[in-house]
Amino acid sequence: MNRRDFVQSVIAAGVGVAAAANRGHGQAPRADNQSVKPNLFTPLKLRGVTLRNRIAMSPMCQYASRDGFANEWHLAHHAARAVGGAGLLMAEATGVEPGGRITPNCLGIWKDEHVPALRRVTDFVREHGSVPGIQLAHAGVKSSRYGPLHSTPNAFVPLDEGGWMPVGPTAKRFDRDGPVPRALTVDEIHAVTGSFAAAAERSIAAGFGVIELHFAHGYLGHSFLSPLMNERTDDYGGAFDNRVRFMLETVRAVRRTLPEDVPLFVRLSCTDWVEGGWSLDDSVNASRLLAKEGVDLIDCSTGGATREAKIPVAPDYQVPFAERIRRDAGIPTGAVGLITTPAQADAIITEGRADLVLLGRQLLREPHWAHRAWVELKSDTTPPIAKEYAWALAETRRR
Ligand SMILES: Cc1cc2nc3c(=O)[nH]c(=O)nc-3n(C[C@H](O)[C@H](O)[C@H](O)COP(=O)(O)O)c2cc1C
Repeated sequence: MNRRDFVQSVIAAGVGVAAAANRGHGQAPRADNQSVKPNLFTPLKLRGVTLRNRIAMSPMCQYASRDGFANEWHLAHHAARAVGGAGLLMAEATGVEPGGRITPNCLGIWKDEHVPALRRVTDFVREHGSVPGIQLAHAGVKSSRYGPLHSTPNAFVPLDEGGWMPVGPTAKRFDRDGPVPRALTVDEIHAVTGSFAAAAERSIAAGFGVIELHFAHGYLGHSFLSPLMNERTDDYGGAFDNRVRFMLETVRAVRRTLPEDVPLFVRLSCTDWVEGGWSLDDSVNASRLLAKEGVDLIDCSTGGATREAKIPVAPDYQVPFAERIRRDAGIPTGAVGLITTPAQADAIITEGRADLVLLGRQLLREPHWAHRAWVELKSDTTPPIAKEYAWALAETRRR
């Protein structure tokens, strides 16, 4: 069975994404911002998908995979946060090609065999009321590195120890160690776009309800956007229109593959934090183009193109990027970065600064954070916690 037939057969078997057969692409409906001011527990509707609240788990590499396969760890990681009430769980940067992984232990979705183990995760997540999302990624010049649990974290994995030759827009090193990456040819750029589209199709077969493309943090997508990383002189480098070409072609190819009712997110590094790098104005302009291509939400991160950047890390430090893009590009946004308290997250939504908050490390500390927020904010919505716990905890709340 070829890949397309395999994917179609899984979809036909009932993936849970409604109207998968009703393919096509068109103008994305905007977020359903009700006339009543939304708060952290107002559902968010994007295309055919409704998140039960505005709380998402930010994608976080687990470095727990072998040959790209999901396993018990990925199930436990996602299951705990689904039970704990987040509206959306974004799976970690998942390699669309084996050479697109950051480390040999990153998740992958470059072959059909990856689908069933991911499907186990998404089935559990859906059963407990969260929407499973997946971040599709190619690590580019930052690939073939050891993960944080290795004895030499972040060191280049030599070719004879299972590493591979990193590729990027330009043959320019990011770190001092390791080989100089190889610049992709135009045919190879098109092939990577094809890998993203094929991975998106497999993601639907695996039951994911939201697809995010990783164009942040100095990985391949961002490295085409940033003048600090992209020194090409052909149609994919130089002027803004050329630097966004790979992203727009990839978004177009992925959107064509996705069912109409599945939302597509793009994570951007909204600034390089360096004079002469990718800027917030560039992000606003790019987001307008992405909205026209059927992207439904910009996930607003920053940084990663250079180690020279001085990043003013503090609570809410990336929220202004989400706020400005939402206002000036007219597209829903997600805010991320040191959002840790319920009041802080709720204010971001009620003040209209973003449509979704993404929590990373706080959800590692506290998988049931959404439920705690629901209690603290005295929400009168259905408790965001698995029913197996809710019956007992609702009692506690009344005391
Ligand atoms: C362990 C870990 C792994 C991460 N992996 C990814 C990833 O796969 N993709 C991504 O876009 N960001 C990744 N990030 C960044 C987070 O998604 C998030 O943007 C960042 O941690 C800031 O949010 P926080 O302050 O809530 O943790 C990772 C962060 C952590 C802590």
